[in-house]
Amino acid sequence: MHRAAIILSAALALPACSRTDPYADKPAQAPPEVVHAAEARAEKAADRLARALIDELQRATAEGGHAHALQVCRDAAESIRTDVSANERLDIRRTSLRVRNPANAPDAWERATLEAWAEPGVTPAAVSAVVESAGSIELRWMRPIMLIDLCVNCHGPADRLAPGVPEALARFYPYDEATGFSAGDLRGAFSARVPLD
Ligand code: HEC
Repeated sequence: MHRAAIILSAALALPACSRTDPYADKPAQAPPEVVHAAEARAEKAADRLARALIDELQRATAEGGHAHALQVCRDAAESIRTDVSANERLDIRRTSLRVRNPANAPDAWERATLEAWAEPGVTPAAVSAVVESAGSIELRWMRPIMLIDLCVNCHGPADRLAPGVPEALARFYPYDEATGFSAGDLRGAFSARVPLD
């Protein structure tokens, strides 16, 4: 993780981000107890978002199979995310190096974190950084999402996708990059911004 930490600090210091864009994140500081409390809030929000997404996935799959569930997830994913964010008073989302929905594409810090986790020999684990963003101090936090068997129905290799899923993907996600995964793969991350002031 030491190496990952170096890569992550480098990503925050990218000159293109800090000098030209007033809304870009800049490295900042906060007392350790404030950081720990914010990390705990992000953990809780990620658990809630994971639970809400899985509940909806299982409900929709029982209702009409995986292709139907895929369509339900497409319609519900964003409102589930914004509901959890509002309830937890932070901003949480999912991201990945290979996205299904282009709106979930990573920013520079998220990309650097995901790339560091994908290095050989690295066991992905939660990371955080205190930043100043548009005049506010925030904790940025990410936790890995690993793929389990259930996910292969919609994110697996072509021959493992559930019936109807390839057609639903072609229709709703023509730019999908999120197939070809196996159980145990790093699929992506929960990523949160927690306000500290
Ligand atoms: C019924 C099909 C289906 C199943 C099963 C499924 N997903 Fe997805 N997944 C989707 C859809 C649809 C999206 C895009 C949602 C959106 O539009 O934001 C998505 C998006 C994601 C994203 C956000 C990044 C991106 O690619 O846009 C992650 C991370 C993710 N899924 C992980 C998982 C994991 C982990 C599992 C297993 C626990 C899983 N998914 C199971 C359909 C599915």
